Amino acid sequence: MMIIHLHLKTKGSDGISTEFGTSRDLDGTNDISYNITYNKPDTDVKKGIKKPFTEVIKANIGDAHAMGQRPITFLRQVVALCTYPNLLDSPSFPEDAKKRARRILQGCGGNSLGSYSASQGINCIREDVASYIERRDGGVPADPDNIYLTTGASDGIATILKILVSGGGKSRTGVMIPIPQYPLYSAVISELDAIQVNYYLDEENCWALDVNELRRSLNEAKTYCNPKVLCIINPGNPTGQVQNRKCIEDVIHFAWEEKLFLLADEVYQDNVYSEGCQFHSFKKILYEMGPEYYNNVELASFHSTSKGYMGECGYRGGYMEVLNLHPEIKGQLVKLLSVRLCPPVSGQAAMDIVVNPPVPGEESYSQFIKEKESVLNNLAKKAKLTEDMFNKVPGVHCNPLQGAMYAFPRIFIPSKAIEEAKAHKMAPDMFYCMKLLEETGICVVPGSGFGQREGSYHFRMTILPPVEKLKILLEKVKDFHIKFLEKYA
Ligand SMILES: Cc1ncc(COP(=O)(O)O)c(C=O)c1O
Repeated sequence: MMIIHLHLKTKGSDGISTEFGTSRDLDGTNDISYNITYNKPDTDVKKGIKKPFTEVIKANIGDAHAMGQRPITFLRQVVALCTYPNLLDSPSFPEDAKKRARRILQGCGGNSLGSYSASQGINCIREDVASYIERRDGGVPADPDNIYLTTGASDGIATILKILVSGGGKSRTGVMIPIPQYPLYSAVISELDAIQVNYYLDEENCWALDVNELRRSLNEAKTYCNPKVLCIINPGNPTGQVQNRKCIEDVIHFAWEEKLFLLADEVYQDNVYSEGCQFHSFKKILYEMGPEYYNNVELASFHSTSKGYMGECGYRGGYMEVLNLHPEIKGQLVKLLSVRLCPPVSGQAAMDIVVNPPVPGEESYSQFIKEKESVLNNLAKKAKLTEDMFNKVPGVHCNPLQGAMYAFPRIFIPSKAIEEAKAHKMAPDMFYCMKLLEETGICVVPGSGFGQREGSYHFRMTILPPVEKLKILLEKVKDFHIKFLEKYA
């Protein structure tokens, strides 16, 4: 049983990023450590060192702008106006952007983006977030007082986990997370010295979440810790599934029955592609299940400027909505948030535009909607293309990419390759990914960085490269995989 899982990314001054992960079994044996020098081939190519490829294609990180996606004009116009208010006199900016910028600036101390805000975030932006949630959830009420603006979703998730973790020995807080998971969870759990409690998503069933598996995992965990928190990622990273309404109802019922604090990571709420799939927020379903549920279940849900159609990762904008928190705990939360003063105010402004975009009848609406749909339609096209291409490769199986922005195909690794990987003290899928990088210049992340069922191997790849580049990438992966199977047959 894994208890420690750390996954860190660092970038050295030479531009070489290193991803380091380690997991340790309960009894202290079976340490697996890996250390990938991702950008070395890229640096080598730039130095003119001969490689079997001319370019490194980075499909390892969900950073849309780094992959060439253009910013949404309206968002940048408002942030530019807030940053340099002299532009409010410029005829080059539309009136609806100026109106948003003036409103945000009025909410800032001294009318400047450069001032600290309230620790919970600027009031008028929290009001806009609440209105957005109400519109999104078909009128379910949202109270600005339950909204906290955050430094990206990561900060919100880490903060909530921090206030929930306590106890020692068998009463130490257990945090249930999906496997495969987004490594922020294992890293924060490890940092807080909490207990990671794994529940497995069902790969045979499009990575669905099965309540029986939640129950198994919870009952097992009760023998060695105090499981108090249940984390859900919907749509899923790295697995790309979109949960249906029934599944969400089952999870909420389970959390209610077991008195678990629900963490709903909904940063991909705009990224749903498959026909028949729809995003349902946990908050909405919670309300629809009636007062017994919505007055009792503790729920924190998270959103971000980083994903969706915006891809504004660098602004570090985000919010969380927290329901049914005990007033004393809420006091502690606000105190904890005030230690870091406030989230970046420019990120708060960016978040405001995500929740308060142009509406029909406004000057910028048509351009905004055109840009938004272009990004999302393109992602939907690439999701289908990727699934179809992978499923044509022998020894690769890829579930539908229903949402988010990643493929997480299962790869068959022959036993000779597994032996060679072991000889190099590498996880087999790490060995595979390193070979892929060295031979093709394609950079993806091994499944072992996210967790997977013992004996199964995967990698995660983003679908963010432009279509033409993605096609080249997929062809290269196919050729590589076929050769890999032949070599280690
Ligand atoms: C599931 C999930 N949660 C949270 C985050 C963190 O997002 P942010 O940039 O808002 O901190 C990510 C980023 O990739 C993610 O995939």
